[in-house]
Amino acid sequence: MGMSEEEKVFKDPVHGYIYVHDPVIWDLINTREMQRLRRIRQLGATYFAYPGGDHSRFSHSLGVYEVIRQMIQAFDRNNYAWPHQYDRLAMISGLLHDVGHAPFSHALEKLMDMRHEWWSVAIIRGSGTEVHQVLEGVYPGFSEDVAQVIQKTFANRLIVSLVSGQLDADRLDYLMRDSIATGVDYGTFDLARIIRVLEPLDDRLVVRRSGLHTVEAYLLARYFMYWQVYFHSVSRAGEVLLTTVLERARQLIFDGQDPPLTHPALHAFLQGKPTLEQYLTLDDSTLFNAFSIWRGGQDAVLADLSARFLDRRLFKDVAWPASRDPLLSDVGSVVAHCGYDPNYYCIVDETGTIYYDYYLGSERAPDSESAIWLYDKANDQMTEVSSVSLPIQAIAHDHHAVRRLYVPDAVFTDPRFGKILQDA
Ligand code: NI
Repeated sequence: MGMSEEEKVFKDPVHGYIYVHDPVIWDLINTREMQRLRRIRQLGATYFAYPGGDHSRFSHSLGVYEVIRQMIQAFDRNNYAWPHQYDRLAMISGLLHDVGHAPFSHALEKLMDMRHEWWSVAIIRGSGTEVHQVLEGVYPGFSEDVAQVIQKTFANRLIVSLVSGQLDADRLDYLMRDSIATGVDYGTFDLARIIRVLEPLDDRLVVRRSGLHTVEAYLLARYFMYWQVYFHSVSRAGEVLLTTVLERARQLIFDGQDPPLTHPALHAFLQGKPTLEQYLTLDDSTLFNAFSIWRGGQDAVLADLSARFLDRRLFKDVAWPASRDPLLSDVGSVVAHCGYDPNYYCIVDETGTIYYDYYLGSERAPDSESAIWLYDKANDQMTEVSSVSLPIQAIAHDHHAVRRLYVPDAVFTDPRFGKILQDA
């Protein structure tokens, strides 16, 4: 890359400044597909719980790029062996890893049974996209390399681990960013020091022995963020409602009673077969616009759910362990008595456990890619981190999931519902 290129700078709440020297990266940032991420909330409906948590996927994507850039600089400062021929590939893969996100980030993935990684790769490989054009301008086949890093199939595992691994740039950025944006202070950690204690060793990233407490603080921060932000009952209430509105709209389409027309691409999306071009026109505003049209539409359920989402009249929740499931039909009767369709106004939401599988419990054999390894250089010894850390062991063994029942306010305060809970 030519040093004559002017340095570009973004001001950023997490990293202070984000520096771009490579014109290819600058061109990628300015593609239509990357700019779309400005219009997609990083945390979906979490802003209902934390008003500050409405930052975009765009700032996160820049942040992941910046973390990788800083990691490579730190490797150089420490004279670690690092394959510099992959610098650009690593930074670009970080920048583009989320380019395929749907509106509101995650809620729609479950509903539509799709994964954003699939769309990211489709955008990177798609001959009609601006991202693809810029990548192929580097050298023919470069887009395929980027796709493989994001799909974790790229031959060089070290490069893959920077984008998706235990201490990858993605998690490091989103935890800090989400924590700062929401104001949940104990989700922050010493990012600069994490970057300092990382060492590329053969095909993986390891942590210098002196970095143990830094990693403990990071994993605890992550743990707090899950319970305080990502699994927060109000965040989940927003996601539940979002999913339910779209579920209703989709049902109407399937029944041939089309909901009031909104964006044609949303229609195709709900039918489950959008083209790439259609998918790229979707963003959060497509949904807000649809909801404001639907709230005045003929279908009472769709109208009510849409209005609830826009006006933040979320459902209320109560803990609902699986052992209570036999009572669901009784709850359904109360919901119906209150004048609501139980299919849309009585929702069990489950989150948890999977986020802790990363930490090794004693029952799981350590493997190189899902563990964090401490490296003791003096003794040339490698130790899996939970084996020397009580706090990490405690987190590793926390497998509890949250299961909640969501119903409208009117049901929640109905004495018949109270009776069911009492007897449960
Ligand atoms: Ni990400």
